[in-house]
Amino acid sequence: MDTVLTGIKPTGTPHIGNYVGAIKPAVAASTNSQVHSYFFLADYHAIGGDADAVARTTLEIAASWLALGLDPNKVVFYRQSDVPEILELAWILHSVTGKGLLNRGHAYKAAVAENEATPGRDPDQAIMMNLYSYPVLMAADILMFKATKVPVGRDQKQHVEMARDIAQRFNHNFGETFVLPEPVIGEHIATLPGLDGRKMSKSYGNVIPLFADEKALRKVVMKIKTNSLEPGVPKDTSDSALFEIYRAFASDAEVAAVRERYAAGIGWGEMKQVLFERINVELAPARAEYERLMAAPGEVERLLKAGADKARALSKPFLAEIRSRVGIRPLAG
Ligand code: TRP
Repeated sequence: MDTVLTGIKPTGTPHIGNYVGAIKPAVAASTNSQVHSYFFLADYHAIGGDADAVARTTLEIAASWLALGLDPNKVVFYRQSDVPEILELAWILHSVTGKGLLNRGHAYKAAVAENEATPGRDPDQAIMMNLYSYPVLMAADILMFKATKVPVGRDQKQHVEMARDIAQRFNHNFGETFVLPEPVIGEHIATLPGLDGRKMSKSYGNVIPLFADEKALRKVVMKIKTNSLEPGVPKDTSDSALFEIYRAFASDAEVAAVRERYAAGIGWGEMKQVLFERINVELAPARAEYERLMAAPGEVERLLKAGADKARALSKPFLAEIRSRVGIRPLAG
């Protein structure tokens, strides 16, 4: 039986790109009773910047996943920082992680490259050890729960491969302990264009927030970039952000109908209204639950703590075994 595990870093309010690309498929997959699923908020991966933003987005993301149907009775849903064994394991894994391996980390390398491209800067300027060691903490997240499959975005594939390398090295040195994980990249999963037509991303500031209220949602949909063709002029679906986003929400039949309306020259204002309504219909029920949970943070806190209890039932005995393997042992008894 597979164990599927994935972490969500609480940076940034969830947007519809996260929903289509990650939350919706993950929630659907989590109903499969043939797998063990672990979902967690990777809050230790998020620290270093605005502290209030980490706390706020942790709640927003937990509330979003729950509102969208993640069932904490079917999956283990927890917050990384509620499972202290993960941090202890991360330190232990540092002892089998080559510095050379981390030198190849793409996020670290990109930060160095940016410094090197800036005259007068030290290559390591403002680079913190938590960026450098990020893959080791991620390995601890994954190896602690013996995950076999790790669904991630393409940018995280290297980190899962590093977790595998680290596990192999540990097993070689200290005996068979860890299961080797495999990354699962959602190749077929849509990446949505944002308001300006580039990939929807917090860093471009072009996102459609997942749970904006109806008024705000309409307003932001109206901002999606189009060309300047007039109503009545046939339009091309292939370079239309409106169409791409619509397609991510709609059924095949709905998409076919909208294709015809493009050919018949639907006006952009009208298409924006169509898109707004389609997104709104899908998200309105979850939005009400999201708002309820955001107003009841104690309930979310309790659910996460209960999830951490389930996670720790595994992590505590496993860490005891790992400590013993590396020589951290009681001196007697
Ligand atoms: N690094 C991942 C991201 O930025 C989040 C993450 C942390 C994660 N730990 C993980 C994902 C373990 C999968 C498994 O998206």
